[in-house]
Amino acid sequence: MTHLWITGASQGIGRAVALAAAARGWTVSATARSAAGLENLAAESGGRIQAFPGDITDRAGLAAVVAAIEAQRGPIDIAVLNAGTHEPTDGAAFDAAVYDHLIKVNLTGTVNSLAAVLPGFTQRRAGRVALVSSVAAYRGLPKAGAYCASKAAVTALAESLRFDLAAVGVTVQVVHPGFVRTPLTDRNRFAMPSLIEPDEAAAHILAGLTSSRFEIAFPRGFISMLKLLRLLPYRLYFPLVARRTGVSSGFE
Ligand SMILES: NC(=O)c1ccc[n+]([C@@H]2O[C@H](COP(=O)([O-])OP(=O)(O)OC[C@H]3O[C@@H](n4cnc5c(N)ncnc54)[C@H](OP(=O)(O)O)[C@@H]3O)[C@@H](O)[C@H]2O)c1
Repeated sequence: MTHLWITGASQGIGRAVALAAAARGWTVSATARSAAGLENLAAESGGRIQAFPGDITDRAGLAAVVAAIEAQRGPIDIAVLNAGTHEPTDGAAFDAAVYDHLIKVNLTGTVNSLAAVLPGFTQRRAGRVALVSSVAAYRGLPKAGAYCASKAAVTALAESLRFDLAAVGVTVQVVHPGFVRTPLTDRNRFAMPSLIEPDEAAAHILAGLTSSRFEIAFPRGFISMLKLLRLLPYRLYFPLVARRTGVSSGFE
């Protein structure tokens, strides 16, 4: 039976993925800081999901969590490194502390999660790891310097590891969600185009995890539009995105 480990499972996308995987009959080990959130999730799953609280910014603590998971429930087959966060940033009121925080959670937290799970994968010459990045990794967006930088790094990390780990039988994937309604995006004060529900996001992610695709990106129409934007030269990209997002000064 497939054994999935997912981080950031106490709410939002991670919670929906854990429940969708459990509904498929997979064994799910769920990590986040909130023990109460994870216990609530485990109760909803009727026993297939087990809570293993942990903080992805604590490298040694997370390695101990993964060791406990594998000792109790057997080797992990698939790791979904989903835990992450977002805070808007205004480059004109530059605050390095927000950058430190987002890089610590989104990038170093992902690195810590890899450090916990990869030794077992490489030793067994088996396993699949999906790094949850964002469409914000595609190009720099206004008021999102820290988030875009941290997620672009996660995507580059996944691309690089895809080469290195294929040689030892380990599959690497990257997840690029568009807007998904979660406690994280509930804080946004702007209209989110092509917003989808967590269950739909989870269905896309589960389908991707059972495919050979590197990139799991959704929803399709929104992704196609953003991929076109990625091809635009800077002289067109900056004025177009400034106009569409209401950032006006300097680009007219
Ligand atoms: N929602 C979107 O539109 C969207 C779009 C693109 C990408 N994403 C990415 O998708 C992932 C999930 O996003 P979401 O919208 O579901 O966010 P969310 O609702 O805020 O959930 C984030 C999850 O990560 C956990 N987490 C945060 N910091 C952690 C830490 N230090 N250690 C362990 N767990 C931690 C949280 O649990 P605790 O607080 O209990 O630790 C929570 O379970 C993130 O990586 C996000 O960047 C989201």
